[in-house]
Amino acid sequence: KEVDIDPEAYDAGDHESFMHKEMLEQPARAEAVLRGRLDDKFGTGHLGGLNLDARELRAIKRVKILGCGSAYYVGQMGASLIEELARIPADAEAASEFRYRNPIVEPDTLYVAVSQSGETIDTLLAVQEIQRKGGFVIGLVNVVGSAIAREVDGGIYLHAGPEVAVASTKALTNMYLAFAMLAVQLGRVRDLSIADGRRLIAGLNAIPGQIDQVLAAEPELAVVAKSLAEAESLFFIGRVRGFPVAREGAQKFKEISYRHAEAYQTSELKHGPLALISTAVPTVAIVPDDELVERNVAALHEIAARGGPLTVVTHAGVDLGDLAGKVERIDVPKNERELDPILLTIPLQVLAYHAALSLGHDIDKPRNLAKSVTVE
Ligand code: G6P
Repeated sequence: KEVDIDPEAYDAGDHESFMHKEMLEQPARAEAVLRGRLDDKFGTGHLGGLNLDARELRAIKRVKILGCGSAYYVGQMGASLIEELARIPADAEAASEFRYRNPIVEPDTLYVAVSQSGETIDTLLAVQEIQRKGGFVIGLVNVVGSAIAREVDGGIYLHAGPEVAVASTKALTNMYLAFAMLAVQLGRVRDLSIADGRRLIAGLNAIPGQIDQVLAAEPELAVVAKSLAEAESLFFIGRVRGFPVAREGAQKFKEISYRHAEAYQTSELKHGPLALISTAVPTVAIVPDDELVERNVAALHEIAARGGPLTVVTHAGVDLGDLAGKVERIDVPKNERELDPILLTIPLQVLAYHAALSLGHDIDKPRNLAKSVTVE
């Protein structure tokens, strides 16, 4: 069975739903997870709860991240941060699958369990499987004293405050920020330079204010969302850093709007899903201003040529060429390119929210879903 957080115990205040309240809390909660953990001078993170000293951090040869749902997708974002900044092989896996495939648990791997509630049974059982095999596992957990928080060997609390809506917003954002701090700290005991460390710490410091800027565009995003909500089926596309963003965007959209929303790597479009593109199937494309921007824009032309309506989540500097004016364009503030994913995620929350609102759904408690699934 499933256990739910009791919305009666909390107050949504002036907001029409908890999801709305929680989205708007993000700048303040993001500040809370960063507070006291950023070192501008040495360009690193200070994560005291890891229970690992610099020598032990250096000994880590691999990072394996486990979570379910949105926590899994943010785990993919975390894995790419760790590979990029610390150059440690890292990947994320659905915790619900892990224990069923007799996983190899290695002593020099850092295992990371990601969970807002700290009670998700699949994630908890993955932690226990790792520990039974002698692995070291830390938690990225929001709820203090929860089952996973008690079980792990160390961790990073997320300080997102209580999250009531099934669709995770502020907890997810703080998971990302926790991964970013972990990646910088792992990088700084290896080959990440002090200059790069400082650059990233400055980037992290800017994120709460930048989230605020994205949220300020809610009225315009609501208009885009209403038109997306009319489609029966949508694609969310992105590549490399943008792909987990697309996955999370599709997840949020389907969870609360009940529309079929599928995430794809932009690069894989031509290997299948392009066959489905038509005037009836909109695509939400993640196009950050990074080393892949030209390839991403070329893919947008492929979609436009088949009549596919496009919403492009991008940065002000990106030139869409002759597509400008023909697509819905959503610009988010630019940060360091490694840290862009979280700001690209925020408008996708707002789109999902307003799509569901325009369809008249129960946003906080979508059908068939529970906030945390605590029994197998
Ligand atoms: C459920 C929810 C998802 C959530 C997942 C993980 O499946 O529907 O929205 O992402 O659990 O929850 P957790 O509390 O472990 O982060």
